[in-house]
Amino acid sequence: MEAYQGMASDVRQRLDITSKYEMNSGCRIPVLGYGVYQTPAAVAESVVLHAFKTGYRHIDCARAYRNEQPCADAIRSSAHSISRSDIFFTSKVPPRAMGYEATSRSIASTLSQTSLSYVDLYLIHSPYGGRTARLGTWDALVSAQKAGQIRSLGVSNYGVHHLAELELYIQTLETKDGPGAGGTISVGQWELHPWLPRDDIVEWCRARNIVIQAYCPLVRGQRADEPILKEIAETHGKTWAQVLLRWSLQKGFVPLPKSVTASRIEENADLYDFELSGEEMRRLERKGAYEPCSWDPTVSRD
Ligand SMILES: NC(=O)c1ccc[n+]([C@@H]2O[C@H](COP(=O)([O-])OP(=O)(O)OC[C@H]3O[C@@H](n4cnc5c(N)ncnc54)[C@H](OP(=O)(O)O)[C@@H]3O)[C@@H](O)[C@H]2O)c1
Repeated sequence: MEAYQGMASDVRQRLDITSKYEMNSGCRIPVLGYGVYQTPAAVAESVVLHAFKTGYRHIDCARAYRNEQPCADAIRSSAHSISRSDIFFTSKVPPRAMGYEATSRSIASTLSQTSLSYVDLYLIHSPYGGRTARLGTWDALVSAQKAGQIRSLGVSNYGVHHLAELELYIQTLETKDGPGAGGTISVGQWELHPWLPRDDIVEWCRARNIVIQAYCPLVRGQRADEPILKEIAETHGKTWAQVLLRWSLQKGFVPLPKSVTASRIEENADLYDFELSGEEMRRLERKGAYEPCSWDPTVSRD
């Protein structure tokens, strides 16, 4: 297991499909994830099983994806060969379930629909809903963590102003009720790739050892024809998708590629027999670029 911060080049070279980072919660997270957004429920169990067979152990799910149950079915049907403690299952509070009560119901629904006794990571899917709802949602996550229903907590799509609001709230609770009373941010998840490097958010998280997950790490295929990707891919005898995922890994992110295609599931995990040079990383970098391919709640001001 590697320390998350200050990852040196030799550490990056040692990454493999079994690598994990230690989070602020003290739990460990597999460095490569498998996303299931827009994976139809009807195929979710079989594609997750293929991902497990390929070596992935980390599933990025959400209430909003409507496929928590088949993903959990795959966990159960693998129990003879992979123990639950080796699998990392994430879900997320849907934007329509913000606030203490609705979030508590959302967590209860995840547990009942999946029949899992705990979820490894529960994220607030987006900051929408206003301050009172966001902090109520956080309170509900902390309560569920104390009850053993969730192991680690985090946020997704938070801007730095939302992160600062949460940090201040946690500090206020700790001042009042003692260390740990306000919970700990272990993970943050954002759209991240060379065309959306989000330096401000990345810096904020790095300073606090918050593990950074990268969604849309393949930019949904929209950059497949970029000459720079083609050139670097040819140099290494890899694909444009593998170059983007390797960029994400070498940035110290936890990439969450999604595919329902067996050959791509395998391709997206075949990342550990090459390394991008410092020069290639710099050439891929689009300093100051801000070109999301998905929604962008980070900019919400409410
Ligand atoms: N927190 C959030 O708000 C948020 C938002 C978006 C996504 N996410 C998470 O991040 C995950 C990934 O994001 P995403 O699904 O939006 O985008 P993505 O992983 O960047 O791209 C997925 C698309 O790329 C295709 N693809 C996958 N591997 C490929 C390969 N090797 N070669 C060519 N095409 C390939 C997939 O097609 P096929 O499936 O047809 O193979 C799919 O159309 C999601 O599944 C979800 O878990 C989170």
